[in-house]
Amino acid sequence: MKITINGSPVEVSENKTVLEVARDIGVFIPTLCNLPEIENRGYCRLCTVEINGKFLPACSIQAEDGMVVTTDSEEIQNIRKAILEMIFKEHFTNCPECVKCDTCELQKCATKFNLKLTDVYSLQPSEEITEIVHGVNYDYRKCVLCMRCINFLNKKYEKKILEFRDGAIRNCSECFDTEIVNICPTGALFLNLTEEK
Ligand code: SF4
Ligand code: FES
Repeated sequence: MKITINGSPVEVSENKTVLEVARDIGVFIPTLCNLPEIENRGYCRLCTVEINGKFLPACSIQAEDGMVVTTDSEEIQNIRKAILEMIFKEHFTNCPECVKCDTCELQKCATKFNLKLTDVYSLQPSEEITEIVHGVNYDYRKCVLCMRCINFLNKKYEKKILEFRDGAIRNCSECFDTEIVNICPTGALFLNLTEEK
């Protein structure tokens, strides 16, 4: 089958998302909640593109024959920037002290969209940190609710380890897995070093 991306026809195999097709041909689309190893349900919407005249998340739409996709335009950029600004309104932004400083995917997106982090700095006392699974701490003020940690752990252990409840990620089963620190795009999950000793 064939779709059109940014005016160019592209041959596409079955069962590929628009995001995967774009990546295959080297077209950049920003993402935050997307992870290849888990099913994507379009939580962050940062990958918004225009598909047949509608603004939709590229990571969770399957490519279909005849689709016409635009991945970049002023309107699309404005949508993505508005989404990022919304995320930053809720985000505890203390980058210089954050464990993920320089590797944070949210910070990288902000740089790409020329968001001045000094304008969005929000310094709050760090009292809201809890242990989410053994060995890993959770700071809900830095959580962008991308659901990566939930989907990753629940799939890996084939049972409910984490869930989204009352506006945050909650533990619902005993587990020790520090891998989710790397799954998290921000500094919301980080190693509990006191536990490690
Ligand atoms: S803790 Fe991290 S991985 Fe989990 S939902 Fe929040 S931002 Fe996403
Ligand atoms: S990366 Fe597509 S909705 Fe988040």
